[in-house]
Amino acid sequence: MALLPIVQYPDPRLAKKAEPVAVFDDKLAGLAADMAETMYAAPGVGLAAPQVGELIRMVVIDISEEKNALLVLVNPEVEAASEEIVECEEGCLSLPGLYEKVKRPAHVRVKYQDLQGASHELECDELMSVCVQHEIDHLDGVVFIDHLSLFKKQRAAARLAKMRKEKARAAKRREQDA
Ligand code: NI
Repeated sequence: MALLPIVQYPDPRLAKKAEPVAVFDDKLAGLAADMAETMYAAPGVGLAAPQVGELIRMVVIDISEEKNALLVLVNPEVEAASEEIVECEEGCLSLPGLYEKVKRPAHVRVKYQDLQGASHELECDELMSVCVQHEIDHLDGVVFIDHLSLFKKQRAAARLAKMRKEKARAAKRREQDA
């Protein structure tokens, strides 16, 4: 197992459509384990393969408090979405520190494959619904701020750039003090 570097917005890999998984082998399982370790360490509740630079359709999710309910979804697809829409504050490990309200269907039914290639269905609501939709978006080259109006998206991206600059400046100061 290994911690993987998380690709940061606006890296072009985050805007690409990921390829379906066709081979269910040890390499895929190893990547899923590394992604889970990376997600737990961050910490986060979800991570998509493109966020670690692998342009394949796989995501890991664990929304449990105890961090003992890992879900690995291979080739996940939203099969049905409710007409009811909810607005929820979202964040992303590729845009750390940024939180914005995003509107999405309240409930979705998702089909996916597990690491052995077996097919499953999952009914999702509340945080799970938000998380699944957010992660599947990553497989289609979409990040959560893409759901905002252009004005709000630009403002959010500018805020992220400013936070990064401040963080880099603080790190440099610490270096000089050391
Ligand atoms: Ni994300």
